[in-house]
Amino acid sequence: MRKAWLTWTMLGASALISVGCATYPDQATTRQIAEKMVSEGFTASPEHAKRLVQDKSQQICSKIGGAELTQAEADEVLKLARASIKYPASGKLVGDWKAGDKLAHDGAGDRISRGRLEKRKENGGLCQNCHALAAGEINVGNVGPSLTGFGAQRGNSEAIVKYTYDKIYNAWHSVPCSNMPRLGATGHLTPEQVAHMVAYLLAPQSPINRK
Ligand code: HEC
Repeated sequence: MRKAWLTWTMLGASALISVGCATYPDQATTRQIAEKMVSEGFTASPEHAKRLVQDKSQQICSKIGGAELTQAEADEVLKLARASIKYPASGKLVGDWKAGDKLAHDGAGDRISRGRLEKRKENGGLCQNCHALAAGEINVGNVGPSLTGFGAQRGNSEAIVKYTYDKIYNAWHSVPCSNMPRLGATGHLTPEQVAHMVAYLLAPQSPINRK
């Protein structure tokens, strides 16, 4: 008797659980709710809060469940990335490698302090967080491929200069939805800073290319 009671209770409980599950919101709604919670909780800086709104490419890249991009979606991301790229007013895509060296190792920029945005200095390039840079540096990341000897291997033809500039400005121009931040397109780096990074990667005198 006791056993039957237990069985019925368990059956009832699992029925209730499945009814409960059936009333959960679907993936898209759960996502909307989560995004609302994050944006409402982000009160420090209205300027930075704008970044919580995804642009067209981010929307395509954040397909629910990490589904593969279709060819049309990948083409759209490439097209948007190409259209986003701006060049320095001087027209020079290769800047000063020493300035690039500093930026590559500098991950700092604005700070949110006591609930307010403080503009302290120009943003750094953050490259070191994800890439091996000059040979022998140990404090580097491996999210992206090693850039050691980048210019020594690729040379500095016009095509390589443009590829390198475009890559740093908007990495998605060649690899849609990659994990490399779109440093110029998001306004994190200026076109002139991107040109310094190009020099840092390609100049023969740069530590990146020294043996
Ligand atoms: C959050 C990680 C991350 C940061 C920060 C980052 N990258 Fe990358 N980078 C990647 C990844 C991942 C790839 C490979 C995917 C791709 O090509 O988009 C990549 C690819 C590259 C490539 C292409 C390499 C090749 O073999 O053609 C270059 C050049 C590059 N990054 C330069 C830079 C520079 C310069 C900086 C700093 C201004 C930087 N990256 C910052 C992750 C990062």
